[in-house]
Amino acid sequence: MASASRSFTRALRTSTPTFRTASTRSARFAVPQQAFRQQFRRGYASGKEGGDEHNPNTMLWGAGALVIAAGGYAAYKYKPELFGQEAKAKGPFIPKFEDYQKVYDAVAKQLEEKDEYDDGSYGPVLLRLAWHASGTYDKATGTGGSNGATMRFAPEGDHGANAGLKAARDFLEPIKEKFPWISYSDLWVLAGVCAIQEMQGPKIPYRPGRSDRDVSFCTPDGRLPDASKEQKHIRAIFGRMGFSDREIVALSGAHALGRCHTDRSGYDGPWTFSPTTLTNDYYKLLLEEKWAWKKWNGPSQYEDVKTKSLMMLPTDMALIKDKGFRPYVEKYAKDNDAFFKDFSEAVTTLFELGVPFASSAEDRWTFKSSFD
Ligand code: HEM
Repeated sequence: MASASRSFTRALRTSTPTFRTASTRSARFAVPQQAFRQQFRRGYASGKEGGDEHNPNTMLWGAGALVIAAGGYAAYKYKPELFGQEAKAKGPFIPKFEDYQKVYDAVAKQLEEKDEYDDGSYGPVLLRLAWHASGTYDKATGTGGSNGATMRFAPEGDHGANAGLKAARDFLEPIKEKFPWISYSDLWVLAGVCAIQEMQGPKIPYRPGRSDRDVSFCTPDGRLPDASKEQKHIRAIFGRMGFSDREIVALSGAHALGRCHTDRSGYDGPWTFSPTTLTNDYYKLLLEEKWAWKKWNGPSQYEDVKTKSLMMLPTDMALIKDKGFRPYVEKYAKDNDAFFKDFSEAVTTLFELGVPFASSAEDRWTFKSSFD
């Protein structure tokens, strides 16, 4: 059943006209490869053209030229002032926007390469990692939030709500090895931003400044929402982080992406037919489809009556049952731009919860996506 709906969603994903395939992505990722190939070709061609490699004179001249070049390079490297250059100031490496964009590009590239996972993308689980790292925030005590990356440690990593997020953390390990200067907490959020943008969502402004913390900063279990509950619980959980009804509904639109896994949360199936592309379909389906309790041996969840291949959690259904939430569901179902705008603002707030930034909100950056 799960695999049937997965191939269905995969098929839909590739056939839907709005889905952008690799061919419509920008050439930014192709350039270095091309350059490499051209250099390689050039080297090979010049080797063939010469024809007199074995002539002793040519070899002597070649050796002399090599010695001169090596001496010149050493002088340039160790005595740059001889070449009119300032001696390089030695100090700690301070990464700039360009450096973070490189991290973004590396995550985006890996997302494209590792497309055998789930519905064809690690994007949804990366977003879930960033959200669960941030959503532990408690505004009353100032504890939790995206500063610290404390989910690396057993007590928090083992919380029921975080089941399955090891896949996302492991996905990011090679990126952390390549860019050791970035903190895990900045990396997880940056990967969440990248996932949203690469799944054709809105731009999510970003600023670094999170530092990793030790195990003593792990938050207690129970700070993340319980999907079996309804509006009172949702407002208590998101209210503790400081979110309004509008922001709660906007954030929930992330369930257009990804799926539930029986071996993680116990629930099963995707919310939409295009789980690797961010759209307002979650709201449309909530309002337009008929939903009924799924008859199965698992936790109580809804399924769409028509195809029985989509699902909604009790917390999802609460958004249309509740008078305060429903008008926002209706608004976002009608207006994708309004959803994208509010989603981007609410996610930016979410991802910055609990971070003592030295920079101001105006200093946020916007990363180029592979579609730009
Ligand atoms: C009432 C609030 C929420 C509840 C109860 C909830 C619950 C869940 C559950 C049970 C799953 C399935 C996990 C699994 O089995 O793998 C899930 C997946 C997901 N959630 Fe939520 N969630 C909530 C809010 C959010 C928010 C605010 C975001 C992001 C802004 C989000 C993003 C996601 C994503 C992207 C997935 C798919 C993950 C994957 O495919 O591996 N959720 N959520």
